[in-house]
Amino acid sequence: MKPVVAIAPTNIALIKYWGKKEKDPLIPYTSSLSVTLRDVTTTTTLSQGHFAFQLNGKKAGLEETDRVLAVLKAFNKKDVIIDSINHFPTAAGIASSASGFAALTVGLNAFFKTQLPLQTLARISRIGSGSACRSLLEGFVLWEKEGPISQLNYPADDLRMLIAVIDDQKKSVSSRAGMEQSVKTSPIFNTWVSDSEKDLSNMLKAIRDRSFHKIGAIAEVNSERLYAVMRTTVPIIDYRSEETHRLTALIPQLRAEGIAVYFTLDAGANVKLLTLEKDILRLEKALVQHGFKRLIKSRIGGQAHVE
Ligand code: PMV
Repeated sequence: MKPVVAIAPTNIALIKYWGKKEKDPLIPYTSSLSVTLRDVTTTTTLSQGHFAFQLNGKKAGLEETDRVLAVLKAFNKKDVIIDSINHFPTAAGIASSASGFAALTVGLNAFFKTQLPLQTLARISRIGSGSACRSLLEGFVLWEKEGPISQLNYPADDLRMLIAVIDDQKKSVSSRAGMEQSVKTSPIFNTWVSDSEKDLSNMLKAIRDRSFHKIGAIAEVNSERLYAVMRTTVPIIDYRSEETHRLTALIPQLRAEGIAVYFTLDAGANVKLLTLEKDILRLEKALVQHGFKRLIKSRIGGQAHVE
């Protein structure tokens, strides 16, 4: 039997997921919405043999292996050799788990010839990582808190995402552990849930109106709300470094200079910048001038698929 090769883009949330209401099956407190990154991907090759899981050419750690085994269990299978390569730094807040588990899920579905429907695949991918389900569809993808995922219509050809890599080391607190702690201890968790709902409805309107600037502004606000929840978590969670702060403070200044750019942060120090194709060169130049030299550039789009 020929190996199956699955490829999935990562995705960056513009409206964040942070907090599980129920773990199994995963029900989040909030709906979330993201964009897939066509040029930031994971390739996963599945071949016949006794279970083995390699990540970036090395035997994967226990935690990652357990998560992969849990996904396999949903297929009622175990024997497969999994070789997964991330084409970007792993576990540094660039959502490697999202592209990884999206590729794994669609790959296994082809490998075992199970032909499961999309929403079932979405549920299975979430066993590995909640955000993974948003890489199963293309471009702007909504994951409703009730479960379904859907694709939103937005002309994304002019959009670009620039990731300023500030730290490519594995994060100290996993998003899984972090959000669990926030649910338990943050006194503003309920406010996060209700504000996030308002942000989502404003975001959906901005998408319908094709308003890039509104989309960006709402994404920034939602990202700041996420950090307010993290900072009120006990013990406090804050993935940002001095360089993260220096860069996010620069963004309004760049906007004032006429560059269309908005930032969003996840569980890591890296800064994701949503911008337009027409401004990308100016933006890159400005960032390099300010000392942010490690930049990953991507178009918006792409979805998990089998080659
Ligand atoms: O899917 P997880 O468990 O890695 O959590 C993702 C959490 C954030 O990246 C911070 C937000 C999001 O919606 O992607």
